[in-house]
Amino acid sequence: MNVSVRCMVPRDVLADAIMVGVYEDGQPNSEAASVDVLCGGLLRQLLDNREITGKLNEVTTIYPPSQTVRKVVVVGLGAANKLDVEKLRQAAANGIKAAAKGKVKSIAAPVLGAGASSIKLEDAAAALVEGALLATYSYNVLKSKQEEKTLSEVILFCADPEAIGTIEQGVKRGVVMAEAANLARDLVNAPANHMTPTHMAEKAQQIAKECVLHCEVLERSDMERLGMGALLGVAQGSTEPPKLIVLRYEGNPGGATMAFVGKGLTFDSGGISIKPAENMHLMKDDMAGGAAVLGAMQAVGKLRPKVNILGIVPATENMPAGNALKPGDVITAMTGKTIEIINTDAEGRLILADAVAYAVKLGAGKIVDIATLTGACGIALGSVYSAVITNCDKLAQDLQSAAATTGERYWPMPNHDEYREMIKSPVADIKNSGGRMGGVMTGGLFIGEFVGETSWAHLDIAPTAYTESEKHYQPKGATGVATRTLAALALLWGEQNLCP
Ligand code: BES
Ligand code: MN
Ligand code: ZN
Repeated sequence: MNVSVRCMVPRDVLADAIMVGVYEDGQPNSEAASVDVLCGGLLRQLLDNREITGKLNEVTTIYPPSQTVRKVVVVGLGAANKLDVEKLRQAAANGIKAAAKGKVKSIAAPVLGAGASSIKLEDAAAALVEGALLATYSYNVLKSKQEEKTLSEVILFCADPEAIGTIEQGVKRGVVMAEAANLARDLVNAPANHMTPTHMAEKAQQIAKECVLHCEVLERSDMERLGMGALLGVAQGSTEPPKLIVLRYEGNPGGATMAFVGKGLTFDSGGISIKPAENMHLMKDDMAGGAAVLGAMQAVGKLRPKVNILGIVPATENMPAGNALKPGDVITAMTGKTIEIINTDAEGRLILADAVAYAVKLGAGKIVDIATLTGACGIALGSVYSAVITNCDKLAQDLQSAAATTGERYWPMPNHDEYREMIKSPVADIKNSGGRMGGVMTGGLFIGEFVGETSWAHLDIAPTAYTESEKHYQPKGATGVATRTLAALALLWGEQNLCP
């Protein structure tokens, strides 16, 4: 998709369609009024007759008597004083999807929503672009017959030459954010035989090259040297070699370093504690946390905030085999902690135990881990929220501030010692399952046992990484969840000028 910004009025637009927003008050706002000049007053008439109500996400296509533009897509924005960037992102997505279905190849739009309930021009431009690019994503590279993509051009226009720079800033951020999430979606949608740990590492190398990041990939022998018994334990039953991907972005030399650590389980069969056959194919998505980290690092590399960020992805399969981990086995993590394996299907926390400890070793002052960790998370929150567990309220606040800009939802879960009691082992320092009760907390807090005193937050994205139903800017399949919020968090830290 090509996205551009132009200084012009509706009459100058050369595109198949124009998209414009209207509010519930039934009045054409100034942008709608200027587009209505092309429509010969038709938009005003439809508003007066209440055939267009301006209700949020209402989409109406009208056909103006214009030589230059075939269609005008009118999108309802709801009440102006209730509009926010997420609603705008969704409304734009619905307008763009309707246009794309109607064989529109190029669409122009004013920066709808800007100014309503104090939405900044730059943020509105970013939201529009994100809505457009996220909504038109599809994964069909594996079909022998490619469906043709109709919509290939979005033009934001504005008559005020002084606003163009600000709109361009917003467009740049929107494009980078959406492309990062779409990259994560691609990685997650790819089947496990196409997205092995080796492929993930190659992707990371490619991102590093394109975005000027440093990339190092630790091999099995490196993990052995470092004593990463937990990651190696999970990997030992698979014939695919494990990789520990380390991307490094330096935006504030000498300043504090933050780490994003994502679960890169490219296929989770459960191991010897094997999963039921039904829906096992969906376990190719078990690297969604790692995909979010790679996507976020791409965005960080392109937006270059003033902060140092490590992106770490432990990547492996979890398979049953003669040499696989067995329930009852005891393994030793890099920190020296011994772990009793109760259930080999609780493998995410094992690979993350070594990965977060490695982040600490590399000097991270704050760590956010992201993982499709527990089925229990979906039982607790449905697919509406991802769960957060943290040892640092400030970090959780920053995460919520970042999420407020991306429209993603994170719900804080408790971290009391009683949950840690549930993962005490009679034979080792800790066990990898506390049973069904409180699974989100025991799973998350297990990982927290390997960060020492470092500020840490854990995001459980098991219920939100993948969806069976299309919604607004979210097509079926991988969602790319957490990618944009991690990138937004890096931008926020960049503004905070953090010291080591
Ligand atoms: N990858 C799964 C969690 C998962 C479940 C992700 C459903 C997406 C959808 C994870 O490795 C797992 O198997 N967790 C177990 C933990 C249990 C054995 C303590 C679970 O949730 O059942
Ligand atoms: Mn599992
Ligand atoms: Zn898993």
